[in-house]
Amino acid sequence: MTKNVLVSGGAGYIGSHVTVELIQAGYNVIVADNLSNCDMTCFEGVKAITGKKDIPFIKIDCCDRDAVFRLFDEYRIDAVIHFAAFKAVGESVAEPIKYYRNNLDSFLNILEAGKNHGGCNILFSSSATVYGETDKLPVTEDSPRQSATSPYGNTKQICEDILRDVVSAAKSYGESMFPGTRKNGPVKGIALRYFNPIGAHPSALIGELPRGVPNNLVPYITQTAIGKRECLSIFGNDYPTPDGTCLRDYIDIVDLAKAHVAAVSRMLDGKMKKDYEIFNIGTGRPVSVYELVTAFEKVNGIKLNYKFAERRAGDVTAIWADPSLANRELKWAAERSIEDTLAAAWAWEKHLAE
Ligand code: UFG
Repeated sequence: MTKNVLVSGGAGYIGSHVTVELIQAGYNVIVADNLSNCDMTCFEGVKAITGKKDIPFIKIDCCDRDAVFRLFDEYRIDAVIHFAAFKAVGESVAEPIKYYRNNLDSFLNILEAGKNHGGCNILFSSSATVYGETDKLPVTEDSPRQSATSPYGNTKQICEDILRDVVSAAKSYGESMFPGTRKNGPVKGIALRYFNPIGAHPSALIGELPRGVPNNLVPYITQTAIGKRECLSIFGNDYPTPDGTCLRDYIDIVDLAKAHVAAVSRMLDGKMKKDYEIFNIGTGRPVSVYELVTAFEKVNGIKLNYKFAERRAGDVTAIWADPSLANRELKWAAERSIEDTLAAAWAWEKHLAE
């Protein structure tokens, strides 16, 4: 029987790319989103890319526990990929309650509904931010987590821990105490720690749609290139790195999406080695901000208006992944070159301007 995968936050940047890959891999996908940080542009793009016009779309706020339970009543859900969360680091510092309430409540509701409907497989979208600043690079999944530097980062750490604890407790869930009522069941979990997702689908039909001034580097670059922003500021050129700018592990969005298919298949095919697993999803290749900017200029034949500016508060000097566990266990590896990724990001920005 074809497996059903619920993608919460499935209309957003990462969620829409993952939905495409899941459908192309033969899964039934149910998209749930409250459209708080996106519109239907990417969902429509997903339908165009896959040719599937009848993908169920449920407009729902995952913080609404009753609505989440109704969703699980209506559909048999074999696995959930949980993206629905706020993600702006700076805003989380200004509005911690909003971040903790949204990011924790929504995840708890998904977990509880999954557990109460006979059990579930849950994939959580975590982040390299859990590693914080570290000298020992690249980071492996065993590298210690550092105290989070923002409420956003803290929600990622807390959700990882919640998932670990729920998985552990759910092992002992047996039959329902009350026949005829909902049945508790085992929960299995995977946390994927993303490094820096960038780029867009090669079709240029889905991509990142930041609201307002972008916080992240690549949308700022593409918006500067198209003339929406005047000048890119490169935050800091006095870091202890080869060219003085920060080092990151930029992972292509389609490669990242494929890692989710590999992880979901591992759960659904009973291939997990532990009931809760963590994988780094990165390339293993550090790229500096300056290198990224010059690669963008070269591959797209554009002269970008940029300047060096003060360091941005909270930025770590360098972080990149050791992705060997994911390479080995998920049989997944990042494949696209940074040039292809930056060309796709530019094609998407131009598509938006059409
Ligand atoms: N940068 C610039 N100019 C900009 C934007 C970014 O120079 O206009 C630099 C940053 O200083 C950093 C690099 O580009 O060195 C990457 O910055 P991003 O904002 O794109 O990404 P981050 O590495 O800061 O963010 C990532 C994830 C977040 C996560 C965060 C934790 O995208 O989800 O790490 O620090 F929360």
